[in-house]
Amino acid sequence: MAGLVAEGLKYEQWLVNLLIFSLQIQIKTVVVDFTGDLSEGIRKIREAIEGLDVGVLINNVGISYPYARFFHEVDDELLNNLIKVNVEGTSKVTQAVLPGMLKRKKGAIVNIGSSVANVIPSDPLYVYAGTKGYIDQFSRCLYVEYKNSGINVQCQVMYMESLEVAFGM
Ligand SMILES: NC(=O)c1ccc[n+]([C@@H]2O[C@H](COP(=O)([O-])OP(=O)(O)OC[C@H]3O[C@@H](n4cnc5c(N)ncnc54)[C@H](OP(=O)(O)O)[C@@H]3O)[C@@H](O)[C@H]2O)c1
Repeated sequence: MAGLVAEGLKYEQWLVNLLIFSLQIQIKTVVVDFTGDLSEGIRKIREAIEGLDVGVLINNVGISYPYARFFHEVDDELLNNLIKVNVEGTSKVTQAVLPGMLKRKKGAIVNIGSSVANVIPSDPLYVYAGTKGYIDQFSRCLYVEYKNSGINVQCQVMYMESLEVAFGM
């Protein structure tokens, strides 16, 4: 295992290598910038998963503020990107993957929420909290809609894990 950790290798790449070696699996990678051309990104994802049985979809993608600020200080670019990545991104990737799961009558979708939306009021990450509030309700509704179709949907609500997401540190 230690042999896989090359100097300068990103943790994610190390993890990918570990999975390939230990589980004997193949990994397909699609690079999508969720702040960019989302239609093109979703098209690439649809193309990549064609013919694959996607059993589990984990919608981990998410951004927050580079640093905490009050709502009147949030500029248009940040506001748009938060909604685009956190709300539109998760919704559209789910929409791309769901038909295959429905056809096979099985699948699991895991969305990532946040304690600032579901447990305590955010201070001051309001737009981020709002987008995660969407993820929470989106997940509940999907769960109800698809539970009889063999698809399980859940929202994992995370507390503060690192300063990277919250403050870009
Ligand atoms: N950390 C916390 O305290 C906390 C608390 C509550 C909820 N969450 C949620 O947990 C999830 C994971 O966050 P994390 O803490 O693990 O932070 P992270 O390491 O920054 O993960 C965010 C993920 O989103 C991807 N991403 C960000 N911007 C993107 C873009 N424009 N296009 C494509 N991918 C993009 C990142 O990809 P790259 O690695 O390639 O940049 C990364 O895989 C997020 O949904 C976050 O909102 C985190």
